[in-house]
Amino acid sequence: MKFVVTCGSLTEQECDVLIVNLFQGVKQPGGATGAVDKALDGLISKTIKEEEFEARLGETLVLHTHGKIPAKRVLIVGLGPKEEFDITKIMRAAGAAGRGCTKLRARQVSSILHGAGAGGLSTQECAKGTVLGTILGTYEFNRLKTEDVKQNTIQTFRITELSSEKLVDIQSGIDYGELLGESICFARDLVNEPSNVVTPSYLAEVAKEIARDNGFECTILNRNEIEKAGMELFSAVARGASQEPRFIEIKYQPDERSALTPISKTNKPRSIAIIGKGITFDSGGYSLKSHGSMYGMKDDMSGAAAVLAVMRAMGKLRPGVAITAIIPATENAIGSNAIHPGDVFKSLAGKTVEVSNTDAEGRLILADAVAYATRQQVGEIIDCATLTGACVTALGQEISGIFSNDQTLANKLIEAGKSCGEYLWQLPLHRDYKKKLKSNIADMKNTAGGEAGAILGALFIENFVGNTSWAHIDLSSASVDEDTELTRKGATGVPTGTLIEYILRSAK
Ligand code: BES
Ligand code: ZN
Ligand code: ZN
Repeated sequence: MKFVVTCGSLTEQECDVLIVNLFQGVKQPGGATGAVDKALDGLISKTIKEEEFEARLGETLVLHTHGKIPAKRVLIVGLGPKEEFDITKIMRAAGAAGRGCTKLRARQVSSILHGAGAGGLSTQECAKGTVLGTILGTYEFNRLKTEDVKQNTIQTFRITELSSEKLVDIQSGIDYGELLGESICFARDLVNEPSNVVTPSYLAEVAKEIARDNGFECTILNRNEIEKAGMELFSAVARGASQEPRFIEIKYQPDERSALTPISKTNKPRSIAIIGKGITFDSGGYSLKSHGSMYGMKDDMSGAAAVLAVMRAMGKLRPGVAITAIIPATENAIGSNAIHPGDVFKSLAGKTVEVSNTDAEGRLILADAVAYATRQQVGEIIDCATLTGACVTALGQEISGIFSNDQTLANKLIEAGKSCGEYLWQLPLHRDYKKKLKSNIADMKNTAGGEAGAILGALFIENFVGNTSWAHIDLSSASVDEDTELTRKGATGVPTGTLIEYILRSAK
């Protein structure tokens, strides 16, 4: 699907489908939609009334133009209530419209720029949202299907704008929206692939390829090397798996090619470590999951997928901030060498941990990964992990949980998420609960009872971050979704967009 911008009138576009829009409750369209209505002798306003089309967010209505304008059909998409309008609504409307186009098997599509002039959004933001929504809404994971293959039919998506002064901003919004969309879909593909394809060594190969293509440094440790490095918690989780674990590290350093200059006082680029949980399948280990909760645990590497997608995007964006990507990747399996509940291991940071529940494996591998990052003296650590079922209970399927020891960092990440349709909700790092993780025989244990599960997961990881600014994104609640305007049932690619946006804003 190619995105282009054209200067001209919507009424003159030759295409299979022309996309226009309407705010909820509007009966007499104005602006560009109004111009199309006029050219069609009032067909849009007439049909809105007849069909009782309310223009709820994502609602669509298709009309034949019968040769009155060069476009064969017009698709009207609802933007929802004007007072609730923001970039996510643009994305959702664009997603619904894009999907409507593929249902009509449209190849050539012309579209209004959603949101221009509404909700205080810039032209560039509107173009970014329109493109990103179209890409995400028409995403399909087809690789393993031999029949009933749904495919995005759109070949050219043309944003059409009358005023020539807006074209440059629209083009830059298109470019950025495409990069975000492509990156998020890259993460989605990795998550949607089953665990018999996406193994730890597969993730390592993907990392190497990204590093090779972009000239990044890449270090991969195997089972022996992970043990030798002193990451006993990570090794312990990997012990039950016959698939070899991999510790993956990719480093991006800004150089003279970097688009944005570093701003730190010492004139050294700031550095951010992004860490992704890379459990390629989570059986629970000896603390075995039930059938119902085990199905779907191929998604337990969603954090890793996002981190890889972000590094791929860094190759194109080259921001003025150093990024270290760290992915501890293993299966949590139940082979004969698997660890037992109650076993004790020494973390890379030196603290001992009693594994009270082998199914709380994510925090174990992340403990060693964050300790590794602090040793590199990075300025900030952001870890992303499908960490707890408790987070799903708290937030449902569309909002990630975020915890942080640095309120500014948390605020910035939440704002970054809002700008690309990824919701984050801050949960409390309530340190009084830390006492629940006391162990009789070790420095701490990895789980405690049933309540406040998401908080305890975050508190456990915090033990290993030292004084470094740190945020933990629990994306168990957002890594997969049902069919929505922006996702097919399956991977969402969250929080790829949030991290890219955050990094770019940090580099400014
Ligand atoms: N990968 C799971 C968390 C998860 C659950 C992600 C549901 C997506 C959907 C994690 O490793 C896990 O099993 N966590 C346990 C922790 C518990 C034993 C304290 C959980 O949430 O049940
Ligand atoms: Zn688990
Ligand atoms: Zn897990």
